[in-house]
Amino acid sequence: MQDDAFPAAGLDGQTAVIIGGTSGIGLATARLAAARGARVVVGSRNPEKVDRAVAAIGPAATGHRVDAGSSESLEEFFAAVGALHHLFVPAADYRTGRIGDLTIEEAESPFRAKFWLQYRAVKAALPHLEPTGSVVLMSGAASARPAAPAAAYVAANSAVEGLGRGLAMELAPVRVNTVSPGTVDGALWRSRPDDVREAAYAGYARSSLLGRVAAEEEIAHAVVFLMTNTFTTGSTLYTDGGYTYR
Ligand SMILES: NC(=O)c1ccc[n+]([C@@H]2O[C@H](COP(=O)([O-])OP(=O)(O)OC[C@H]3O[C@@H](n4cnc5c(N)ncnc54)[C@H](OP(=O)(O)O)[C@@H]3O)[C@@H](O)[C@H]2O)c1
Repeated sequence: MQDDAFPAAGLDGQTAVIIGGTSGIGLATARLAAARGARVVVGSRNPEKVDRAVAAIGPAATGHRVDAGSSESLEEFFAAVGALHHLFVPAADYRTGRIGDLTIEEAESPFRAKFWLQYRAVKAALPHLEPTGSVVLMSGAASARPAAPAAAYVAANSAVEGLGRGLAMELAPVRVNTVSPGTVDGALWRSRPDDVREAAYAGYARSSLLGRVAAEEEIAHAVVFLMTNTFTTGSTLYTDGGYTYR
């Protein structure tokens, strides 16, 4: 039974919006938020993925197509959602690589389609965000310890963590935090060639304290913690099995 002295661990009666909630970490978070009592709204660019995710999450979920790269699309999306308590934007679509191998356009893509995409989404959500609510931004532990040659991607993640600290100040009492995962065994890596994935997983296991990669559900758990803990703001939570510690 809930002791009234403790903040509720659940999301009963609250609305959690997850842009990029149709796959990977976002979908796992949507499922956990629904299990904790939230009304969940998922969005992404592909309407078939939206429909599949809504069916997978269950009756607490609805979804809409949205391109978080477009302010107009985001404004239409949030007008359809109405009031919301929690926003999480793991949507991203970028290239990584060495400075010498990428075009400038490719190198800019983690900023364009991860950093600015989240900034746009928060800005479009503002008129609808409840003051008791929260924003969780998505970074990656490469910000603190690069795993592979990908300088622009590293820098974009560091920028997301700075954005979280800055927005925590601007948006208080809305809480703003950032989750920064290490390598996760999930949709993103499973879409890559087997040898590339296995080498990345083995390298990560060797480099972290817990000796393995994460499950998507473990990152979802951290995101829901940041949504529900009522005295955490301006923080970056490294959910990385001790990768940045070493
Ligand atoms: N997986 C890892 O090992 C790992 C580690 C550290 C950090 N991260 C970070 O976690 C985030 C998500 O990773 P993931 O593994 O969950 O990826 P994922 O499975 O590829 O999911 C990405 C989601 O974003 C949506 N999306 C992409 N661009 C969008 C846009 N412009 N507007 C709206 N939705 C968009 C995709 O759906 P549509 O295609 O339908 O748009 C999909 O639902 C990324 O920022 C990544 O850098 C991942």
